[in-house]
Amino acid sequence: MSLDLAVLVSGRGSNLQALVDAIGDGQLDARIVGVFCDRANAPAVERARSAGLATQVVAPRGFATRLEHDAALFDAIDARKPDLIVCAGYMRLIGEREVQARRGRLVNIHPSLLPAFKGLHTHAQAVAAGVAEHGASVHYVTPDLDGGPVIAQARVPVQPGDDAETLARRVLAREHPLLVRTLQLIAQGRIALRDERVQLDGRPLATPLQLAANQRFP
Ligand code: GAR
Repeated sequence: MSLDLAVLVSGRGSNLQALVDAIGDGQLDARIVGVFCDRANAPAVERARSAGLATQVVAPRGFATRLEHDAALFDAIDARKPDLIVCAGYMRLIGEREVQARRGRLVNIHPSLLPAFKGLHTHAQAVAAGVAEHGASVHYVTPDLDGGPVIAQARVPVQPGDDAETLARRVLAREHPLLVRTLQLIAQGRIALRDERVQLDGRPLATPLQLAANQRFP
């Protein structure tokens, strides 16, 4: 089955690029039906346009409230009829109404091993906490910030001398295959959200899937 994706971005767009590349070389059975960005000058917009993708900037300026911005953004997304909406570095909170209406069809990649280090500056949070392991998670979005059911994770050892920047670089390199492989499982119909739990092949997952070092799921 091929999955029609809407991708939400705010900045650099390297996760978006990973999806474009994976679709291009046949690793991901999907089609990007629209890219949506909240910032007109984000590099991700340029990347999306040069990949020939339908790209729309819906900036919060010009809307009186977050609710109105969300409504305009999701109207634009719905018009493209995606099967799945992927937040790939989208840095705004999405309001409860839009999230509830799309439960099980909205996923996010977050740069930490959730439930650790929610919110912003996750790499600095990890360094400050002195953890031995950090990483990234792909999860279903719920109204609870970075709190929805986790589908899959990639783990990255913290090395002596790591700072937020070195750690961010190593985590990002693992985010790309993590996002691609997780979306491929969804495209294959193997992953779904049922009764607030992630199911793999029809059975609830006890713990998130872990992307192995060879960038495959066990
Ligand atoms: C990625 O590290 C992603 O996990 C993070 O923003 C970065 C976007 O990079 N997302 C969040 O922090 C969401 N809370 P990219 O624009 O190069 O894909």
